[in-house]
Amino acid sequence: MENIRLSDLVKQQPLVTAFLNDKHIDYCCGGDRMLFDAMAELEVGRETFLDELEQFLKNSAGQMKATIPEELYDYSIAQLIDHLEATHHRDERMLLEEVDAKVNKILLAHYAHHKDELLEVHALFSDLKKELLEHFAREEREVFPLMKQPASKESLDKVETLEAEHLGAGAIIKQLQAATHDFTAPADGCPTYIAAYDLLRKLTEDIFIHIFKENAILFPKFEKEAN
Ligand SMILES: [Fe+2]
Ligand SMILES: [Fe+2]
Repeated sequence: MENIRLSDLVKQQPLVTAFLNDKHIDYCCGGDRMLFDAMAELEVGRETFLDELEQFLKNSAGQMKATIPEELYDYSIAQLIDHLEATHHRDERMLLEEVDAKVNKILLAHYAHHKDELLEVHALFSDLKKELLEHFAREEREVFPLMKQPASKESLDKVETLEAEHLGAGAIIKQLQAATHDFTAPADGCPTYIAAYDLLRKLTEDIFIHIFKENAILFPKFEKEAN
């Protein structure tokens, strides 16, 4: 395994964030660091860490491959954009509304016993919803239309901003995973509690696939055609 900038590793394989979270490696604000430098700060041996990372990457690549239709790699930029808008943007907008309603419902119903957890989940989810809706608007109204035209310095810069926003969304999801104990409702949680967390998990899984398609398929294709 070669040394690589953390932000590039996450860009190539967004699922690796789960592994990095587990190891408490910050890839968001610390994304400019190199993998080997981040690794040196850990208490595990270099060999063990790299073995685990390689195994994880192998598994997650297989997982992604199973999720991403092969033909997507042959799509044109315009086809990819249309696909993203018609699937992930549409589905996630609907999921955001559904989760929003349920999170508000359980916040009221379980306030007495789960106030700390639910206030945190509510705050984090509200942040995620705001970030995503603004990000989708930026993509649909500003950057994607530019990407359907020949690349320019302006459009390439805007793509970089989108990548940074993906990292930001990933960081909120990481906090949501921790706050919800990996989307596990408490033993006394009602069916709405369970449904809210299930939907939240579904939303975050869709976001990871969505980000992967943009970071690892759409953006590299656009940057390649610019050269
Ligand atoms: Fe998108
Ligand atoms: Fe995006």
